[in-house]
Amino acid sequence: VATISVGDLAKRMGVKASEVIAALMRLGVLATLNQALDVDTAALVAADFGYEVEQAMTEELEVEALQEQEAEMGGEALPRPPVVTVMGHVDHGKTSILDAIRKTDVAAGEAGGITQHIGAYHVQAPSGDLTFVDTPGHAAFTEMRSRGAKVTDIVVLVVAADDGVMDQTKEAIAHSKAAEVPIVVAVNKIDKDNADPDRVKRELSDFGLIPEEWGGQTIYCLTSAKKGVGIEELLESIQLQAEILELRADPSRKAKGTVIEAQLHKGRGPVATVLVQEGTLRPGDHFVAGIYSGKVRMLINERGEQVQEAGPSIPVEVQGLSGVPQAGDEFIVLTDEKMAKSVANARQLKARETELASASKVSLDNLFEKM
Ligand code: GTP
Ligand code: MG
Repeated sequence: VATISVGDLAKRMGVKASEVIAALMRLGVLATLNQALDVDTAALVAADFGYEVEQAMTEELEVEALQEQEAEMGGEALPRPPVVTVMGHVDHGKTSILDAIRKTDVAAGEAGGITQHIGAYHVQAPSGDLTFVDTPGHAAFTEMRSRGAKVTDIVVLVVAADDGVMDQTKEAIAHSKAAEVPIVVAVNKIDKDNADPDRVKRELSDFGLIPEEWGGQTIYCLTSAKKGVGIEELLESIQLQAEILELRADPSRKAKGTVIEAQLHKGRGPVATVLVQEGTLRPGDHFVAGIYSGKVRMLINERGEQVQEAGPSIPVEVQGLSGVPQAGDEFIVLTDEKMAKSVANARQLKARETELASASKVSLDNLFEKM
């Protein structure tokens, strides 16, 4: 049976959970925040708030119920690699640090390296595995977050030792704090004559990023991406921070993740880079990605190699979509094609309704403007 928790229902309607609990009480149902409500009860309460529980929502509820069932039947939550985003001011060395990190990848091999850009890549570093998500700009980070996607576990904040804290450094700190993602600082360009790492530490301390050696909790690494100095230490520090977070996921479940980027490829049709966050994704899996459904035809890693599976924290390019989803869209594997299609259809309907509603509103507004 499909259910929804009191908390989730409140969130979806944009009201306080306490209000939902009060409404339930009026219906003679005593409920707690995490209590599961069946569709009928949920519909009754929703009606109280002027909401109609339509087909789309019941489909969504079914998806959630299925996934909860999965979770109950699932195996153990095992440690997973951290997912890292590198941020910082223009020219402070983000790309150079990522390049230096890629060189430590034992899986890339000698000739290898990255042949394909898929928006995210996995590195097998000597200190442990980790995944980097490329967000070309801070805007992309915010956009993903505004769409409810949380993909980053740790932010590496790159600050040039000869330049110090600049506008986009502050912006990156604000974004990380808003997303409640811990920051590891890389004080870069320490090879430069006018490098002053202590100044960077002082400036960042004003934003609450107090170094461990000064009694704070923020890990600082001194790096020179150009000379390859401090890169292994940076990777070790990221792993240290990851250990504190105790990141875990159950690889035995059906896969669930987030679309990092997607586009229409000339020969291959719609392709999406998906970061798997729970479970394991395999060819043949039926899924929904945003408003589209599909069946995994092929999985390709960041080196352009075909792979047979992708577990937690692994990014893969997925082929076999019926359309191009948006970055930040949820990617969910479902039991079968019928289920995937019906959820996708329900979502498309809903999207169209929303579009129509806003379109008619706009034209009304225009009308009033003209009057
Ligand atoms: P944007 O993507 O434009 O925001 O820049 P970025 O942060 O990716 O910086 P990028 O890695 O492109 O480096 C900018 C410049 O700084 C390049 O000319 C690099 O060669 C140089 N650079 C990066 N790291 C170091 C370093 O450790 N030492 C020195 N001396 N130069 C560095
Ligand atoms: Mg760059």
